[in-house]
Amino acid sequence: MSGFEADWLTLREPADRRARNPILLEAAAAYALEKIGPIVDLGCGTGSTFRALDPLTANGRSWIFVDDDPRLLDRALEALPATANERVTLQRADLAQPTETLFAGAALVTASALFDLVSSAYIVELAQALRRENVGLYTALTVDGRVEWEKPHALDEIIVEAFARDQKTDKGFGEGLGGDAAAVLDDAFRAEGFSIRSSTSDWLLGADDAELQDAFHKGFAQTARARLDAEDLEEWLAFRASAAREGAMVRVGHRDCLAFPPG
Ligand SMILES: C[S@@+](CC[C@H](N)C(=O)[O-])C[C@H]1O[C@@H](n2cnc3c(N)ncnc32)[C@H](O)[C@@H]1O
Repeated sequence: MSGFEADWLTLREPADRRARNPILLEAAAAYALEKIGPIVDLGCGTGSTFRALDPLTANGRSWIFVDDDPRLLDRALEALPATANERVTLQRADLAQPTETLFAGAALVTASALFDLVSSAYIVELAQALRRENVGLYTALTVDGRVEWEKPHALDEIIVEAFARDQKTDKGFGEGLGGDAAAVLDDAFRAEGFSIRSSTSDWLLGADDAELQDAFHKGFAQTARARLDAEDLEEWLAFRASAAREGAMVRVGHRDCLAFPPG
């Protein structure tokens, strides 16, 4: 199981919602409305993509939420409005195992903050599977490796490098793509003949997001433990916490992508 905390997903959801490209989100909804079949959300977590997309589809589509973490599926179920209980199916599944049957008859496949975890081969196979089933993909908030702090610190570079290296480690799907995922998605789906629309969907975090900044920075610092002293990391975290509360911004690069199958 992948070990994402529900509290982290809850903390990031407002920033994710602000960052999602609204044009791609609306186009994804319009596409789904023209199709029959469920929307299949891969790595659903607590249901962030559902909450962003469902209102734009007149809250009427059926959904399949797929995740391998039963605690997150429970949280997703608890968070569902009563009106959606009948039309959302929860499916516990390891996406690293063959999942093609999930896509048959789907109106749209969605994912958010997922594809940095997977390998290049995984995305190529997903593009091939969705091509065979003639299903479109809407994916949001794929990190693209950019992190820009308004207030720099001497350790930023080494910490960003450590984070990028950690992202390349196996997260259950083979060598992780990390910040390369967004480009690989575009290329793999284009190679299968999909028409692609993609756009940046950066987090822009300021003083109002200080708690999210703290959690994000803590995750970064953890990946640098092997390379830096604990004291240096504490000092960096304190610097970042104080900069966040002074209103210094951090931009975290993400991309959204909409891929429509040919024909
Ligand atoms: C960063 S979270 C994103 C969750 C949600 N889409 C969101 O945007 O809040 C990644 C999600 O992928 C799920 N996940 C990771 N590896 C998985 C796997 N092998 N099979 C199924 N789900 C997986 C995690 O449990 C988690 O819910």
